[in-house]
Amino acid sequence: MNVLVLNGPNLGRLGKREPGVYGSTTYDDLVRLCLDTGRDLGLSVEVRQTDHEGELVGWLHEAADAGSAVVLNAGAWTHYSIAVRDAAAQLTAPLIELHISNVHKRESFRHHSVLSDIATGLVVGLGVDGYALALRWLAGRAD
Ligand code: DQA
Repeated sequence: MNVLVLNGPNLGRLGKREPGVYGSTTYDDLVRLCLDTGRDLGLSVEVRQTDHEGELVGWLHEAADAGSAVVLNAGAWTHYSIAVRDAAAQLTAPLIELHISNVHKRESFRHHSVLSDIATGLVVGLGVDGYALALRWLAGRAD
């Protein structure tokens, strides 16, 4: 199974960014965690990050065309980007919405997601370990 792990704005600054909220794991560590986990599980995993909404939309189109599963941490776009939602709605393989922090314990503007009702499932608030858990679940669904 091909899996794209897609990360939205500010996630490239993991490790430096609000460590009290997001932890001290760097983005490079996160990439390594996903690639190592994918290898152990027999998945073909690619990890990407962008601060540009159109780029994420393009990657979701690519995943839709390739029939790839997606683990999506859309960052702040989660809460308001209809463009990201419309692109994600075209996926045919599973879509896991992921958040490192527990958004429901935070500001009320983070409680709403435009993605949750089109996602296969959600992983929220389990730190970067959530990425490994999402990949493990996907591997269990692979034919
Ligand atoms: C986040 C939560 C979002 O509210 C925030 O804008 C992010 C990261 C998370 O992983 O906890 O950038 O998606």
